[in-house]
Amino acid sequence: MSRLTKTAYILGIFCFLISCSFAIFYGYKIFTHDVPKTKKTIEEARYHFVLVPEELDNEYWRLVEKGAKAAAKHYGVVLEYVGPKQANIDEHLKTIEMSAAAKVDGVITQGLSNKQFTPLINRVVSSYGIPVITIDTDAANSHRIAYIGTDNYHAGYLAGKALIADTKGKANVAIITGSFYANHMIQRVKGFKDAVKKAKGIHIVAIEESQISRIRAAEKAYQILQEHPEVNAFYGTSALDGISIAKVVELKKREHDIYIIGFDVLPETIANLQKGTINATVVQQPYEMGYGSVKMMVELMEKKHIPSIVHTETQVIRKKDLSDLHQNRMEAGKKNAIPN
Ligand code: BGC
Repeated sequence: MSRLTKTAYILGIFCFLISCSFAIFYGYKIFTHDVPKTKKTIEEARYHFVLVPEELDNEYWRLVEKGAKAAAKHYGVVLEYVGPKQANIDEHLKTIEMSAAAKVDGVITQGLSNKQFTPLINRVVSSYGIPVITIDTDAANSHRIAYIGTDNYHAGYLAGKALIADTKGKANVAIITGSFYANHMIQRVKGFKDAVKKAKGIHIVAIEESQISRIRAAEKAYQILQEHPEVNAFYGTSALDGISIAKVVELKKREHDIYIIGFDVLPETIANLQKGTINATVVQQPYEMGYGSVKMMVELMEKKHIPSIVHTETQVIRKKDLSDLHQNRMEAGKKNAIPN
C-alpha cells in the first residue's frame, strides 16, 4: 500500500467514525429529549393547549413555562410554549391567531393591551369557540374565561409603600416601566403612584419605557441620570428593568446613594440584592401561574367551575429576606410546588 493510499484509508476510517458518533448522538437526542410534537402525540393526549408569552427566552417566562409543563405532565395534556423569541406584539398576536386556527383546545396568554388583545381574545373565544385564560397580565374587559397572576395594581402599591419606608419618605424617583401600553405595567405604575401620593417628600421626576429590553432599560437609566442629577431612587416595573438600572448605577459608582426597587427574583436580581445594589424587589409567582393556568384549563375542559380571577401571592423582599425565600423555595420544591 502506497503512503498516499494509506493516508486516504486512515482518513476514510476517521470520517466514518465521526459520522457514526454524530448519528448516535443525534439519534439518541431525538429518541430521548427533543421528541417533536407529532400529530400522533397531540391526538393521543387528552387536550392540546398553547401558552403564548410575550418573550420566549425571558428567564421569567421560562419559569412560567416550567410550571405549565409540570402541570401538563401531571394531567396528561400537551402544552406547547410558543411565541416571539424577543418581545414583539405583532408576532405575539399572530401566534395566538395561528393557534386558534390550528384548533387547539385552549389558549393561555397575556392580555397585554386592550386595544390589540381584547378584540383578538374575543374572536378566539366567540368565533373559534376556544377558551382563553389570561396569565400574568389581564385583559379584564375581554371575553377571556379567567385570569391567573399577580394583582398588578396591588404589587405596584406594595412597591410604593416599600420605597417610602426604605427612603424614610424622602426621594426623587425615576420609573422605568416595561411598556406604557401594557395593562400590567400601567397598573404597576398606577398602584405605585397612589401609594406615594400622600408622601410629601417623594417626587416622581421621570418615567421612561424599556420595552422589556435590557439594553433599552440601561440606556434609559443612563439618560435619566444625565438629565436629572437629583434622582436618588429608581423603580423598575418589569423583571429586567431593576437589573439593568443596577448595572448603570454601578457603572456610575452611585450604588451607595441610589435606592433601587425592582420586580421579580431572577438570579441576577438576587445577586444584586446580596451586593446591596438593588434594595428591594417585588416577588411574583411565575411557576405557580404556569402550573395553575394549565390546571384551570383542564378543569374547564371537564366542565368544572373555575374562578374568574386567581391572584397569586405577591410580596416585597429585601436582602434580609433572602434566606427565607431560599427556604420557601426548597419546601415548595419538595412538595412539587403546588398541590393538586
Ligand atoms: C412581567 C412580565 C414581563 C417580564 C419582562 C415581569 O415582571 O410580569 O409580564 O414579560 O417582567 O421581563
